[in-house]
Amino acid sequence: MVESFHLKSLSEEDKLIVSKPFLSTEQIQQRIKELSAEISRDYEGKKLLSVGILRGAFMFFADLVRSIQVPMEVDFLNVSSYVKAETSGEIKIHTDLRENIRGKDILLIEDIVDTGLTLNYIKNMLLERQPASLRICAFLDKKPRRKADVALDYVGFEIPDEYIVGYGLDYDNKFRNLPYIAIFKKSL
Ligand code: PRP
Repeated sequence: MVESFHLKSLSEEDKLIVSKPFLSTEQIQQRIKELSAEISRDYEGKKLLSVGILRGAFMFFADLVRSIQVPMEVDFLNVSSYVKAETSGEIKIHTDLRENIRGKDILLIEDIVDTGLTLNYIKNMLLERQPASLRICAFLDKKPRRKADVALDYVGFEIPDEYIVGYGLDYDNKFRNLPYIAIFKKSL
């Protein structure tokens, strides 16, 4: 069992729920090394603009971009799915990009692809702005829940249909700062 300052503010119940890593810090960092090596090869000589999708992707984004070995620009989209997004596919854009992406090679960096509706919406929105290319790197791919068929170019880990927290991912905006991924199972 992992005991760290990340868990100190949590209730005893929450502590038990998230104290066992599903993906450890070491596993995550090893996979990031592999992904970033592949991305560095693919983007040699390109006009790379890495776009992080907030809030969930902030930690993966920071680890991944610092490991990528080619020059890049960075920007962020802050979005969230509406409660009814699973049926409507409508996404709320809280903060749009600051950069003009026309003619640039965009790498969208996302924490998790669940239904795929968020990425599908963002991808279509950004393609209208005529980037030179657009690829997607997702840290976690929860394939069993997919509703929109969105192609992923780089994937960290495929995961089962479980509620996941940590490493940027939340339950009610909590647990994002855990340095590992845990399965969040609440006993009712
Ligand atoms: C989460 C996650 C992805 C999206 C994936 O974001 O970070 O962006 O949901 O779900 P989907 O594939 O079913 O669309 P959320 O809307 O919870 O906002 P957050 O990143 O700020 O937590």
